[in-house]
Amino acid sequence: MRFGHFDDDQREYVINQPETPLPWINYLGCEAYFGLISNTGGGYSFYRDARLRRLTRYRYNHAPFDFGGRYLYIRDNATGEFWSPSWQPTRTKLEKYECRHGMGYTIIGSTCKKIEAQTCYFVPLGETLEIWKFRVTNRRKKPAKLSVFSSIEFCLWDAQDDATNFQRNFSTGQVEVVDGVIYHKTEYRERRNHFAYFACSNKLAGFDTQRDTFLGAYRSWDNPVAVEQGKSFNSIAHGWAPHGSHHVKVTLKPGETKEINFVLGYHENPTDQKFDPPDSQTINKQTVKPVMAKYLDGQNVTAAFEKLRRYWGNLLGIYQVRSPDIHVNRMVNIWNAYQCMATFNMSRSASFYESGIGRGLGFRDSNQDLLGFVHMVPSRARERILDLTATQLQTGGAFHQYQPLTKRGNHDLGSNFNDDPHWLIIGVSAYLKETGDWGILDEKVQFENEAGSEQPLYEHLRRSFQYTLERLGPHGLPLIGRADWNDCLNLNCFSNTPGQSFQTTTNKDGKVAESVFIAGLFILAAKELAKIAARRGLKKDADRYLAEADKMEQVILRHGWDGAWFVRAYDDFGRPVGSKICEEGKIFIEPQGMCIMAGVGLKDGKARRALASVNQYLATKHGIVLQQPAFSKYYVHLGEISSYPPGYKENAGIFCHNNPWIIIAETMTGNGGRAFDYYTRINPSARENIGEIHRCEPYVFAQMVAGKDAPTHGEAKNSWLTGTAAWTYFTATQWILGIRAEYEGLRMDPVIPARWKGFTVTRRFRGNTYIVEVKNPKAKQRGVKRLRVDGKEIAGNLLPACPPRSDPIRVEALLEG
Ligand code: GLC
Ligand code: GLC
Repeated sequence: MRFGHFDDDQREYVINQPETPLPWINYLGCEAYFGLISNTGGGYSFYRDARLRRLTRYRYNHAPFDFGGRYLYIRDNATGEFWSPSWQPTRTKLEKYECRHGMGYTIIGSTCKKIEAQTCYFVPLGETLEIWKFRVTNRRKKPAKLSVFSSIEFCLWDAQDDATNFQRNFSTGQVEVVDGVIYHKTEYRERRNHFAYFACSNKLAGFDTQRDTFLGAYRSWDNPVAVEQGKSFNSIAHGWAPHGSHHVKVTLKPGETKEINFVLGYHENPTDQKFDPPDSQTINKQTVKPVMAKYLDGQNVTAAFEKLRRYWGNLLGIYQVRSPDIHVNRMVNIWNAYQCMATFNMSRSASFYESGIGRGLGFRDSNQDLLGFVHMVPSRARERILDLTATQLQTGGAFHQYQPLTKRGNHDLGSNFNDDPHWLIIGVSAYLKETGDWGILDEKVQFENEAGSEQPLYEHLRRSFQYTLERLGPHGLPLIGRADWNDCLNLNCFSNTPGQSFQTTTNKDGKVAESVFIAGLFILAAKELAKIAARRGLKKDADRYLAEADKMEQVILRHGWDGAWFVRAYDDFGRPVGSKICEEGKIFIEPQGMCIMAGVGLKDGKARRALASVNQYLATKHGIVLQQPAFSKYYVHLGEISSYPPGYKENAGIFCHNNPWIIIAETMTGNGGRAFDYYTRINPSARENIGEIHRCEPYVFAQMVAGKDAPTHGEAKNSWLTGTAAWTYFTATQWILGIRAEYEGLRMDPVIPARWKGFTVTRRFRGNTYIVEVKNPKAKQRGVKRLRVDGKEIAGNLLPACPPRSDPIRVEALLEG
């Protein structure tokens, strides 16, 4: 069952009923000011950091699930009837409803009682504000006298404190209302130099800034007393809950349309110019006024919207494919790339499943996110790499997370996630391959954000590598630490105390439990580092990295191979995890994908054997589950993984993030058909028709789909902010379609289903545009041996990078098997 459809020409997903199985959301803003917006206007906004600079309040886990947002009300002043044009919060039956989620904007349109309304929400590029462009049309035969009310609830900035510290917060709220603009200035009187404002382009009939005056006692947003009575109270919030509501009266002739623009923004003043006059407590509005004025003007709003559309057209234009499969085209050309922007910006901080207060930017997560983002805005990828690097510890380890506002490592979580350092090498190598910006390796970056500790980025990478060598366990495999990629495989935790964090509790000295997964990752990273070193002329370094990678490969083959698949780990007792001798959790997905990606087992058939086991034991029609058999009970020596009921999350859920590792492994063994099949199973567009089972948005990947042990097998959860975004994008573009960025140029190595007759990719790369036509007349799955470049044949399948030229480079690639 579908709840909408894709409009690929407009790059939009169109939802045609408000009651989707779950809120289907979108993101506004892609630089510094962000908003989450659901298909019924729900969500919230923040500046840079969802925890520390929250502009509007949102109540998670509410019933209904999604409640609180950018709400508007229309009231028919002749009858007193009122409704919300985005359906929520009044949930009045609408004659027509349509939500279009696009690239950085959402348009919600509806008709109710023959009054048509449409609101376009977006954040103009380069600004710290959002616009709600509202249009209302009278489709009646008679004139209509309407009231329009806006409504938002301000958050008192720190979302964590806002949701807990009521004894203080109920007394701190402050606002100003001047010329119809509502300024939220809680704590501006003391240490904050920022405020929020909510402005409206039209003359006001009134306003409200005290939530409970607007709503009325014992009422909620579905029935505010101000709307019901058709009059605002001009309330000024003193403490309690600052709120923003404008009231505009609109009279419309039959067929007439009127437009109202609302602007919600964030603004900072220099600390010595906070007040005007200086000795007052009144906000200095000199600097914000021009910005506000600009976006209250309809023409500027239209121009800003067009600019946003062009911006995305250009970004997405970097990689465009025309393949025989619509789900590939749509995800690669539009939605998956778009989701990669969201994961780059948010990491795992703010979605409808991530509260924005829980996590900062993860070290491993953000490094992996680069894989799907680096080609879009390389300069931002560069900045991110340097920020992440600065949170690396002298030991080569890393703070597991950092707060985006302060860019400092998060001490609450600390470090000792022993996979973390290697992801930096993977992230940097992706950046180098895309950009050829070798200079980044010489950038001096701090350790632990400490002044004076600066070392070239290359030295950081070297320490990442070294980190593992200094932490090897009894079998010579890397010690796992608190956890590796799988946050929930906690082999040193041994927690029996309810509520203890599995990630930060350590009851063992950590000298025994080892990870085969990290061993694979170490090899993958070491091989990249060797190429990087060789390119810098550091042959001795390069040789050493390769020698250590070889050594580790031998260790894996000796202690990490279980006969038909790779072992997952060794526990604190030195017993294997993910082995046929285990009662549960005999086979895990992660080491199969990672070891093969690192090249282990490619020559001796072990890779194929492991992939056959994955197919036999882990693959389901909804994707590949994380392990089997699922853990049926809590195992103190395994930790959080066994805390989940079977089939969910890391306990045998389809943890989509690592499905692409298997897909890449399949392409590496030349199995285009199976690689593509696996890709399609988790591709949300290909799952659109089973919306009642999948339930999450059909335009973005979710972190998890319930595995075969769960009663809700096939149900997605935790959409948007997942490493799946970058990995599936990277896999589809670089391994299936096989147009792959390498240090020296672009590799053409498609591995596709035999039935595909070919496809075309347009790819911008280091200043050139390549138009690549892949032909597959002999129904092969792989095998480009020669290329025609601008009509001339070259040997091999690598296009060396070349100086930028103005016309496109035309490439023909023939699959010969
Ligand atoms: C979440 C975390 C990520 C981790 C994964 C598996 O997605 O953000 O860091 O690797 O879960 O546990
Ligand atoms: C991973 C898991 C998640 C858990 C987190 C920290 O991200 O997916 O379930 O909350 O690790 O424990």
